[in-house]
Amino acid sequence: MKDVVISGSGVFTPASIVTNEELVASYNQYVDLFNAENAAAIAEGEVVAMEYSSCEFIEKASGIKSRHVLYKEGILDPNVMQPVFAKRGEDEIPEMVEMAIVAAKEAMAQAGKTAADIDLIICAASNIQRAYPALSIELQQQLGAAGYAFDMNVACSSATFAISNAVNAIRGGMAKVVLVVNPEFASPQVNYTSRDSHFIFGDVCTATIIETTDTCTADNSWKILGMSLKTEFSNNIRCDVSYTDHCHPEVDPLTPFFKQQGRKVFKELLPIVADVILTEMARLDVAPDDLKRLWLHQANINMNVFAARKILGREPEAGEAPLVLDTYANTASAGSIIAFHQNKQGLTAGDKAVLCSFGAGYSVGCLVLERYR
Ligand SMILES: CC(C)(COP(=O)(O)OP(=O)(O)OC[C@H]1O[C@@H](n2cnc3c(N)ncnc32)[C@H](O)[C@@H]1OP(=O)(O)O)[C@@H](O)C(=O)NCCC(=O)NCCS
Repeated sequence: MKDVVISGSGVFTPASIVTNEELVASYNQYVDLFNAENAAAIAEGEVVAMEYSSCEFIEKASGIKSRHVLYKEGILDPNVMQPVFAKRGEDEIPEMVEMAIVAAKEAMAQAGKTAADIDLIICAASNIQRAYPALSIELQQQLGAAGYAFDMNVACSSATFAISNAVNAIRGGMAKVVLVVNPEFASPQVNYTSRDSHFIFGDVCTATIIETTDTCTADNSWKILGMSLKTEFSNNIRCDVSYTDHCHPEVDPLTPFFKQQGRKVFKELLPIVADVILTEMARLDVAPDDLKRLWLHQANINMNVFAARKILGREPEAGEAPLVLDTYANTASAGSIIAFHQNKQGLTAGDKAVLCSFGAGYSVGCLVLERYR
């Protein structure tokens, strides 16, 4: 079996930042407007008064301090409460492809590859901006790559599942050098009027290059020792938007938005995550003490610390399980790849690490890695 490596990574980070303070201030203004408009119905007990959000709660419950967004305008306006941006036409590049071009170029430069080397592009994200033609094929055209391309979606596990597809395509002889991009344009799926979830997501795009050790020339590359994917159906994280919605005028206006039962997710998903990682490590004869880094999905600081403890069998030391949640928030499938991209330095050949995503589905994608060069 061919040795396959992640030979490059890249991240596109939108320039605009929304802090918790800004987000909570606008949310609380929205609450005041709502409660004033509905004062009579609230007094009659027909409408439930909205409660304030708080920065203290958000930081303690999630670890998030701020997030990057593509379009800040509208999000902080209590009369708008959503990103405001023009719909792009057929002759314009959609946001997700635009983000992916930047991340892809960084990953390709790290890997020492040009578009001419790439023969498969996988665009994997929690939301795909249009049904077809595939965004990945437009990205292929923009980069000037040959071969084939496709889009896929396994929510927060999209990146790891896509990397496993890339590995299998390489091992099956379908491709030699694969570009995986994860444009997570998450802000439009956030219900900024929901106290439970208005703080959760940020926008970002990550990219990785996957190839064999035969073609790898990169300095900092990571051999994929093993991969394990698992899914188990759950309704606890959902987004119901569908191309059939226009056939159902009764569709709930909240349909396009992300919704979750956060507590249940926390309780139900973590045991699956720990089991998938520990089973794959045991299969590969990798002991917890062998691990130098855990690049975990970034949804919640408490979840990450809990998972790291389960895997290592002790408290994680500073830098062992790096967090990017504080400045990026939850970036769906891109989170573990940002953690990898920003924290893959300072290790030597032979060092082992785990990269793992988890989320809606439920889905868990675990890669056990070893520094190759
Ligand atoms: C979403 C999440 C951060 C919420 O944290 P939590 O500790 O579970 O918080 P809860 O929803 O149970 O709410 C706790 C309390 O805070 C309150 N609260 C909720 N949102 C609040 C906000 N924005 N500001 C202030 N208080 C808030 C709740 O009303 C509740 O009050 P109560 O105890 O009086 O009933 C957390 O559950 C989580 O991250 N879960 C995992 C989610 C996940 O990984 N999802 C994958 C998505 S890709």
